[in-house]
Amino acid sequence: FSDYRDLSCEIRDISKKKNAVILAHYYQDEEIQEIADFVGDSLELSKKAASTDAEIIVFCGVFFMAEVAKILNPNKRVIMPDINAGCSLAESCRAEDFKKFRHAHEDCFAITYINSSAEVKYHSDIICTSSNAVKIINDVPKDQKILFAPDRFLGEFLKKETGRDMLLWHGSCVVHENFSEANLIDLSTRYKDAHIIAHPECPGNLLKYAHCIGSTTHLLRYSAAHPGSKFIVLTEEGLVHQMKKASPGSEFYVVDSAQGCESCSKCPYMRLNTLEKLYKCITDELPEITMSAEIIAGARKPIEAMMRAS
Ligand code: 13P
Ligand code: SF4
Repeated sequence: FSDYRDLSCEIRDISKKKNAVILAHYYQDEEIQEIADFVGDSLELSKKAASTDAEIIVFCGVFFMAEVAKILNPNKRVIMPDINAGCSLAESCRAEDFKKFRHAHEDCFAITYINSSAEVKYHSDIICTSSNAVKIINDVPKDQKILFAPDRFLGEFLKKETGRDMLLWHGSCVVHENFSEANLIDLSTRYKDAHIIAHPECPGNLLKYAHCIGSTTHLLRYSAAHPGSKFIVLTEEGLVHQMKKASPGSEFYVVDSAQGCESCSKCPYMRLNTLEKLYKCITDELPEITMSAEIIAGARKPIEAMMRAS
């Protein structure tokens, strides 16, 4: 292919011929977002996966997202460009350890963030995403103890938002935990009128500066509601592509990573997916997400509980 436009056209043609749907998370490379039939946050992508009548779901995101699509569509082929696209949160919570944790706290209702493996979901009471977590926690009777896994920073944020005491798993996101507070202060000193917008996977020392905290879609809507403004962004920089499209007159400054590397505000897992791998994946219909019928049935229950609640 002479350039990525040819490759994109070819992917689109194959997708149409095969009756496939391409779903992409906001943290994907721009050219993948541009080619997708639908771009969204993790809740919207789950809903889209649940309602599609396409025969093949091509999931451009990370492994746990593609797993959710498979759990909701056990009879469909779900493929993703790079099967190694994991997530540090999902990896921080191994099913055997989570099972022991649950046994040690049998009196707790387990609310699990969608950034977790299917096996961990299997051992959970309900799943949540950053866009419905507050509602899901508020729906739990006040006298019921709760445990929340695997993101401790999101958990701390939710404890403050809901006033509920929750037992927290100690996982974190490699991207959101590493934004530099010094760079955030520097940017907000330079751009005094800027809105600071943050994903709740960021630690509290960063969230305390934010004017708006929420899921990727929530942050996108907030920026679109303030056209012609400046934004200091504390989330994966892929989202800025949609923000710029929605608000071409606004300015966006992504906070640097404390580790000082240029690409640290890019999720190393999400960015394993490339247009070339997407082409190969849709052509070969591989790699495919597979899991046992038992895990599918068991993990489906808490996902459906989330769908009903949101
Ligand atoms: P959203 O549900 O807000 O899209 O977040 C997913 C994610 O992985 C954030 O790091
Ligand atoms: Fe996981 Fe963080 Fe990447 Fe989101 S940005 S997929 S939480 S590692």
